[in-house]
Amino acid sequence: MPKYPKVNYIGNKEKLADWIIENLPLRQGTVIDLFSGGASVSYALKKNGYRVIANDILYSNYILSKAIIENKSTLLNENVFDCSVSAKEIEDKYEKIKFLSERLYFDDEVKELAGMLCISDVLEGYEKYLFLSLIRRSMIRKLPYSRMNVPWEQIVKLRDEEYSYKKYGRKRAYHNLSFKEHILDNLSEYNSAIFDNGFDNLSCNVDSFEMMQSLNYPVDIVYMDPPYPRTMNKYSSFYGLFDKLFDRNQSFMDFTSTNIFLSNMEKLIKVCVYKTKYVVISLNNKTSPNVAEISSMLTQFGEVKVIDKLYQYKVTGKENKNSTFEELIILKMK
Ligand SMILES: C[S@@+](CC[C@H](N)C(=O)[O-])C[C@H]1O[C@@H](n2cnc3c(N)ncnc32)[C@H](O)[C@@H]1O
Repeated sequence: MPKYPKVNYIGNKEKLADWIIENLPLRQGTVIDLFSGGASVSYALKKNGYRVIANDILYSNYILSKAIIENKSTLLNENVFDCSVSAKEIEDKYEKIKFLSERLYFDDEVKELAGMLCISDVLEGYEKYLFLSLIRRSMIRKLPYSRMNVPWEQIVKLRDEEYSYKKYGRKRAYHNLSFKEHILDNLSEYNSAIFDNGFDNLSCNVDSFEMMQSLNYPVDIVYMDPPYPRTMNKYSSFYGLFDKLFDRNQSFMDFTSTNIFLSNMEKLIKVCVYKTKYVVISLNNKTSPNVAEISSMLTQFGEVKVIDKLYQYKVTGKENKNSTFEELIILKMK
């Protein structure tokens, strides 16, 4: 049975994916996961027999969905490390990526990473995307808090196993394993995640608005899980240094500012008209604008229904103010 591998994506819907799928208005058809992130919803859709189009603005998410959503059968062999790469190629690559030195990793680690990237340059097709996904995973695994915007001094402190043990009771030795060790640790799990659901699934790497504007055939559902204002939403800072390794940096529509969220969402839904039967939006009771404000804007486009689920229950004296309800807005387009 194929299983979604360890990706560890901030704000992912891995634990909610089954609930989201159960509540989709159609049991089959083509679904665009417009802000696919760590691809947990795309993966669950693929498993449940939908044709999936995964899209995200970050290249680091694109390579992952290429590897586990679009890819039907290509696996990666351990002998990938036998690829012949010259010392000169590694030195040239190191020169290009040394901005990571003492920003995310120690200098000798950046040299090792340069070697891994040279191997990825030799690979082609889904083997390349799988290897890049494993490089991504190893980069994240080596970083405290699993993100790329922690100051270097703090990284150094938290990677000190004695300090970590004294302060947090855990050595977190995995931060100090090599990239290769991490890749080998995760290789079989990533290979086991590959399967064919009988459809030609697709991965895209464009802005959400552009994606919907350029879509020239109708789909059944557009699923949206944008980075809401006032949440952990700095995705370019969390993962953008991976994209920088490949000189990728695209401009995109902003969904993180409270004052323009609704107008940008409205523009995005407008461009979905006649292109999809349904739009399904994930959010929770903490997001701002809230579910009522977003629903009210959406009514101009069709019939709106809201489904919710108690996700995190916290007892806090008076009311359950801190409880989190996961919500799904289902918009049936006119
Ligand atoms: C909340 S996360 C999605 C998480 C995803 N559902 C999962 O389960 O991992 C939001 C994603 O939207 C992407 N994003 C932000 N603005 C975008 C835009 N204008 N177009 C496309 N993707 C965008 C971010 O890179 C981020 O991966």
